[in-house]
Amino acid sequence: MKRYLVQTMGCQMNVHDSRRIEEVLRAAGWEPTDEGALADLIVFNTCSVREKAEHKLMSALGTVRPFKADRHVVVAVAGCVAQQEGERLLSRAPFVDVVIGPDNIPELPALVEGALDGAPPIARTVFDLDDPRFLNATPHPSQPEVTSFVTTMKGCDERCTYCIVPYTRGPERYRSAAEIVGEIRALVDGGVREVTLLGQTVNSWHEPGGDTERPSEFASLLRRIADEVPELLRLRYTSPHPRHLTDELIRAHAELPMLPRHVHLPVQSGSNRMLKRMLRRYTREHYLARIEALREAVPGLTLSTDMIVGFPGETEEDFADTLSLVKEAAFVAAFVFKYSPRPYTPALKLGDDVPEDVKDARIQAVLAQVEVQQGAHLASLVGTEQEVLVEGKSPKGERFTGRTYRNEIVHLAAPEGVDPTGRLVRVEIESALKHSLLGRMDGAPEGMALPPPPRRALRLPVLDGKGAAH
Ligand code: 5AD
Ligand code: SF4
Repeated sequence: MKRYLVQTMGCQMNVHDSRRIEEVLRAAGWEPTDEGALADLIVFNTCSVREKAEHKLMSALGTVRPFKADRHVVVAVAGCVAQQEGERLLSRAPFVDVVIGPDNIPELPALVEGALDGAPPIARTVFDLDDPRFLNATPHPSQPEVTSFVTTMKGCDERCTYCIVPYTRGPERYRSAAEIVGEIRALVDGGVREVTLLGQTVNSWHEPGGDTERPSEFASLLRRIADEVPELLRLRYTSPHPRHLTDELIRAHAELPMLPRHVHLPVQSGSNRMLKRMLRRYTREHYLARIEALREAVPGLTLSTDMIVGFPGETEEDFADTLSLVKEAAFVAAFVFKYSPRPYTPALKLGDDVPEDVKDARIQAVLAQVEVQQGAHLASLVGTEQEVLVEGKSPKGERFTGRTYRNEIVHLAAPEGVDPTGRLVRVEIESALKHSLLGRMDGAPEGMALPPPPRRALRLPVLDGKGAAH
């Protein structure tokens, strides 16, 4: 039996891609293993959005050297570093056998077979520009899931000056509404209750072949999903670009109960001078006006964001604008990053680098402010009743874990013998922890039961500034 191990580094898009990698391998007769020593194939699915992420790959590659010395294990590098470096990676890391870009995942089993048969190392990093492929999730019947990602588009046509993604993921390509709805239908029939639509700029979506100069059609996609798969309980999306937050999208939030009362809307900076240098194509005032319109349409809506501190030329005054925007926008969570110079990006030429210790102080100041706001928000929910979609057992196993309609994580106690996984339950919130809530189930769970609960304990990502959103 041939066994594989996939290690994921990076964003939700990579988590999603890793699942597709596993599916194409399983379809080709491979079995999973958690142990490197037993694996015949180790795949590193990589991230290159910041330099630190890229360093992680190089140290992870060092760990496979002993396995390589003992026997014939194939090492594959997938994801953004693979796309960015291509063949260069084969010479930089001599024990890599296969380098495979995000658009070439279906070719992986054949390339690995070739490597097992002694073929020389190979890199396949070709964008599928003419005939973009979107791999369907194939739900595993023995591991039903409550929530799932569905890809709606890939690539990015923005040119944010700090960002390597347009280079590693290529130009925007959209998936048809019929295919998206079809995948969601199949997932819901298999037990999924919540779907998160994924895309680098998820809300720039257009029906493929349409006029992309016209405003985004993302709101009509959401309406179509709500119409055609009404059993879906929640429909999230990540990550939107503020410039495509159309009036239609705001109206959809007001009218579709399936959309949660939470939006993750990356802002990057509160300073107009920095936003311009970043080529974000909106101003602070525009961003604030859009979120005000969203909040008017959806009372109680919460917002989280992505931010970069220490972008070239960022002065104390610019940074003060970012800090004041954090307060004004009342973010309840944020991913905050120190600017990291990336190859091939226009920001490399800007000069005016901010010293590392200044970046450190700025990131700490933003995180501290977000923490205060998150703490106050969570504390305000103590004593309320919240509707929670239960996703499974907590990692420690004593409680169940789920999320509210906004996005707060709730650990809840259920009555003896009741497994509310996959159901909406009413939970009385008893106390607030640093990043989540504790509560007690109130009454019986609603909705259809899932067949058996997921086997694995859940590890829910927490928006605490340590991970990436897309
Ligand atoms: N340096 C630091 N942060 C970056 N991001 C993207 N590129 C860089 C970079 N070069 C951040 C942005 C984006 C998130 C996914 O990663 O905040 O929204
Ligand atoms: Fe595209 Fe997001 Fe990168 Fe900007 S930050 S270039 S929108 S992926």
